[in-house]
Formats: sequence, C-alpha cells, structure tokens
Amino acid sequence: MADIAVIGAGYVGLTTGTCLAHLGHNVTIADVDEEKVQKLSGGEIPIFEPGLSELLSEGIENRNLKFVVGAVNASQNAAFHFLCLPTPPNPDGSTNMEYFSSVIEEIKAVLPTNSVIVNKSTVPVGTTSQLKKQIQRTDVEIVSNPEFLSEGNAVRDFLHPSRIVIGAESQEAASKVAALFSDIDAPNQITGTESAELIKHTANAFLAMKLTFINEIATLCELVGANVLDVAEGIGYDPRIGSTYLRPGPGWGGSCFPKDSASLLQTANKAGFDFELLEKAITLNQEHLKRTAEKVIHALPQGKGVEKSKIAALGLTFKAGTDDLRSSPSLAVIDHLLNLKAHVSAYDPMVNLPIENMDNLEISSTAYDAVNNADALIILTEWQEFADLNYERIYEAMSHPVVIDARNVLNPQELEQLGFQYIGLGQ
Ligand code: UGA
Repeated sequence: MADIAVIGAGYVGLTTGTCLAHLGHNVTIADVDEEKVQKLSGGEIPIFEPGLSELLSEGIENRNLKFVVGAVNASQNAAFHFLCLPTPPNPDGSTNMEYFSSVIEEIKAVLPTNSVIVNKSTVPVGTTSQLKKQIQRTDVEIVSNPEFLSEGNAVRDFLHPSRIVIGAESQEAASKVAALFSDIDAPNQITGTESAELIKHTANAFLAMKLTFINEIATLCELVGANVLDVAEGIGYDPRIGSTYLRPGPGWGGSCFPKDSASLLQTANKAGFDFELLEKAITLNQEHLKRTAEKVIHALPQGKGVEKSKIAALGLTFKAGTDDLRSSPSLAVIDHLLNLKAHVSAYDPMVNLPIENMDNLEISSTAYDAVNNADALIILTEWQEFADLNYERIYEAMSHPVVIDARNVLNPQELEQLGFQYIGLGQ
C-alpha cells in the first residue's frame, strides 16, 4: 500500500483521498484552510456528498487518513502527490493556473526522489509539460489522471468508474499509478499526457453539446407538437447515441460543464482553430436559459405586469442530489426574472441562506411558503420532493395556477385535472 499526499481538500480532493484510503492506502490530505483541516480531522465534512462522510470516518478510525495544513507537510514523505486544486476560469474563459504554480513552487524541493505527481484537476492541454518544466526534477514523474466524478455520485464514480485514464511519458510511471487502482474493476487507458488532458475536456464538452442538442430538440418539439421525452427515448435505444444526458432542462450548468467547455474553446483559439460547433453550443445554452425565463413571463396573468407579479421557483442547486450552487442554471433563470423586476420566492431543500449577489431573491423555508399567492410556479431542479408535493394544496395557495415544469418532473394530466395550466419542456 502506498503513501499518498492529496493536495487540496475540495470536492475532488476529499473524494479522491477518502476513496484511496478506503482502498487501503495511507493518505494525507493537505489544505491551506486551517479551520477546514481541523473540522475534517474531527470527521466533519464541509460538502454534501452521499457516502463520503462514512468513508471519512472509516479512514480516520483505521488511522490511514489524516489531514494537515500545507502541501509540504503532506508531500515530504509521500510516494504519490495527487494535485486536486481549484482551476477557476479567467474572465476570457481560459483557466487560471495560479493555484497550481504556487503549490508546485511550494513542494518542488521536498518531493522525495522517484515520487510521482498525479494531476487529477481539470487543466488545459499542455499543463503536465509545463509543470515538468517548472519543477526541474528529472527524478520526479508527472502523470495526468483526470477525474470523471459527477457530484452526488462521486464515491460510486470513483470506486466503479467507467474507465481510468492515465497520461504518462513513461510506462513505468503509468504502471505505478495504475497499481494504486488495482482493486478497481475498470478499463485502464494509458495515453500521452496531452491526450489524457484533452480526454477530460472533450468528455465534458461533448456531454454539454449533447444536452444543448436535446434542449434544441425540445424547442422544436413544442413547435411541431411532438414530445421530447418520447423522442429522447426513441433515439436513446440506439447504442450509438445512448440514453443518458438526454434529459432536457432549463439549460446545463454546474461547476464543470460551463468552465470546461469555455476552457476547451480557449485551447482551440490558442491553437488557431475556430471551434464553431462548441462555441455555438455554449451560446445556444445561454439562449435556452433565457428562453426558460421568458416562458415564465409569458405565463403570468395578462395585464398584471412582471413587476407586480410573484413567481415561485422550486430548486436552486445546479442539479438534484447536491448542495452546489456554482453556475446553477436555476440561478441563471432566476437572475433573468429578477432583472425584469419580478418578485421571486424560491425554495430548495439544500438552501436556507440568502444567495450572494441576489439580494432581491426571497428564500422560503418550505415549498408551500414559496408558492403562496404566486402568479406562476417554475420547477428548476429535479428534486424528487417536488414531484411528491401536494399540488391540490399548491393550487389553493397560488393566485394564478400555472406551472412551468422546466425539468419535466410532474405529471401533466394530474396537474391539469387539478385545474393547473401545465407548461412542460418540449411536450
Ligand atoms: C460533470 C461530469 O458529468 C463528470 O463526469 C465530470 O467529472 C465533472 O463534471 C467534472 O468535470 O468534475 P457534474 O458537474 O457533477 O459532472 O454534473 P452533471 O451531472 O454532469 O450535470 C451537469 C449539468 O447537466 C447539470 O446542470 C444537469 O442538470 C445537466 N443535465 C445532465 C441535464 O440537463 N440533463 C441530463 O440528462 C443530464
């Protein structure tokens, strides 16, 4: 079993570190945030991720998972250094690599001979080569090992991945990293470092484009009287297309798809390639988010005016099963509504505090509070709890019973029977 340092106790670092400890390795997770390290050492987890807290307790109890402040304290005795650092976007869409540079500066002198740096963060193609130049250590290998975890399923995705991609310059380094995951049953793909880096960005951009495509088909369905759910099912049976990532929604978002597709576009620009298809997929997604907001405006009672209307919004997180609000499509739609001076009252099972830069957004403590006297209700996140609400009660509470179901989670017939005007997405 290997001695592993994980640098960064964010979403990827915590999942990677706790899962590697679960596989039996000796793991030290480092972070700059002292308070976070203290809390994690006591078994307290700062994010909502099913199954993670149990693995954290298991590692602490088995004494093969610990937390320290500062990368040096983790790296100086480790054989592997997993970089799980933030890669936020710059204003032009390119990736901000400041965290990488400063961590590499910090640890480069203390890295034990023959140890391996493993980069898990999503980075632009060419990063591994740049890091190699920066550390100036011929005795230390750098390997790219992109992560494909999706929030809400991170532990399952780590322990049962669809593939393990290892980008390395030498077969020896690739084999060393592959051995860490030998208990995981998944195809291993060994590539060059550039390809490994590009695989990650391509996967996210491709899935984002698939979603743009089905959202465009949803709009077309509305115009021609077809049902996008039937269309998606029908094409999904074809194994060449596949049935996943075909659920239409208000637009795609989250901390990865928008950032990674913008970064890939920047990579293409830098390489002198006009990646029109990807660029269009990104702008069409923006338009789709706006179109979702416009649907709400059109559904308001005639003559009342947006400023005088109350809109109830159910769902704030970027998808169900997470408490993450980063680049949430729900917030983007709500932002359009707030800009039009609507009064928006929102409820989300994971959110009870005001949202930064959205002072005018009212956060309700229950879905029933949010819908009280509302002129329209929009479902923005696909929480199961929204499908299970008492819509008879909601009908009574609203002033104008119209539902815009931007995730297609409700039963149109049942709502219409109750007297609602139901507006689905692409149906
Ligand atoms: C995504 C990828 O799925 C992971 O493989 C990847 O590792 C991760 O980014 C990352 O780069 O770290 P995640 O951001 O958790 O994972 O989100 P997804 O579950 O993929 O959802 C992204 C967006 O697409 C959300 O807004 C979601 O609501 C939307 N979506 C997804 C749909 O609208 N319809 C679908 O059928 C699926």
